[in-house]
Amino acid sequence: MTDDRLRHLLGIEDLSAIRAEQILRSAEAFHEVSRRPVRKVPTLRGKTVINVFYEASTRTRTSFELAGKRLSADVVNISGSSSSTTKGESLRDTVSTLDAMQPDVLVLRHHASGAAHYIAQHTRAAVVNAGDGMHQHPTQALLDAFTIRRHLGADLRGAKVVICGDILHSRVARSNTLLLKLLGAEVCLAGPRTLLPHRPDALGVKVFDRIEPALEGADVVMVLRIQRERLGAPLLPALREYARYFGLNARRLALAKPTAIVMHPGPMNRGVEINEDIADGPRSVILDQVEAGVAVRMAVLYHCASEPGAELS
Ligand code: CP
Repeated sequence: MTDDRLRHLLGIEDLSAIRAEQILRSAEAFHEVSRRPVRKVPTLRGKTVINVFYEASTRTRTSFELAGKRLSADVVNISGSSSSTTKGESLRDTVSTLDAMQPDVLVLRHHASGAAHYIAQHTRAAVVNAGDGMHQHPTQALLDAFTIRRHLGADLRGAKVVICGDILHSRVARSNTLLLKLLGAEVCLAGPRTLLPHRPDALGVKVFDRIEPALEGADVVMVLRIQRERLGAPLLPALREYARYFGLNARRLALAKPTAIVMHPGPMNRGVEINEDIADGPRSVILDQVEAGVAVRMAVLYHCASEPGAELS
């Protein structure tokens, strides 16, 4: 049960190590609920969750909807393309309009970095950031940590996690780096120099412009998508060249620990950042990540909206 609600989840900075641990533990209970024949508990009965998605999504959107429904909340989904945004309504007016309907949680995906912080100033509901531009994707980081713990054990101190690919444009990389460091893991970032962060020292991580030295001794290899839609300037000569020098293949994966797991937040560019045989191979936990997404989002909604003392299930 939780006695102190999470006001918002806008970024990993909203979490202490203790709160992150509480959410991950609640997610364990909800993971079990999601494997029952009847996958529903009354925990958020009478609560309202509105999912507002201005950007395309398969995993995050579906799992937030399932999470709310499995907790018995009333769930409403709005997409940018079918909302009054297409008639010129501003984000501020959309949020004020939704706020007047007394939701308990607003889940927002938006193409603009900072959009979740912005709407949090204009609603009484708890706001959960479901991905804002190139900024953060905190529930993705929580589900990734949840998945890693299920494979490596609950104590991540000293575990080596290598995040490979388009780090510069990745909200997943930023949220994962912050959360994994909070949980005590060693984080390494690897990618072409043009797709690495400009100030890696500020993140407190090791940065590599080749993938091979980064992979040595890794416990976890997290591969990121090349975000073609965010590659404004020509930062990469060609995707074929990227695959040749940075794509995860069997030869490169052999540099990691024999027990290392392979992760990808999805959607994947098969044959670009990850080879087919690795994506579908025995060390891939990519579909475990998807399953974890429902449990972790149930836990986040529970921590944002449950009544004090409410049981998990
Ligand atoms: N990982 C992730 O955010 O996937 P979607 O864009 O499909 O939600």
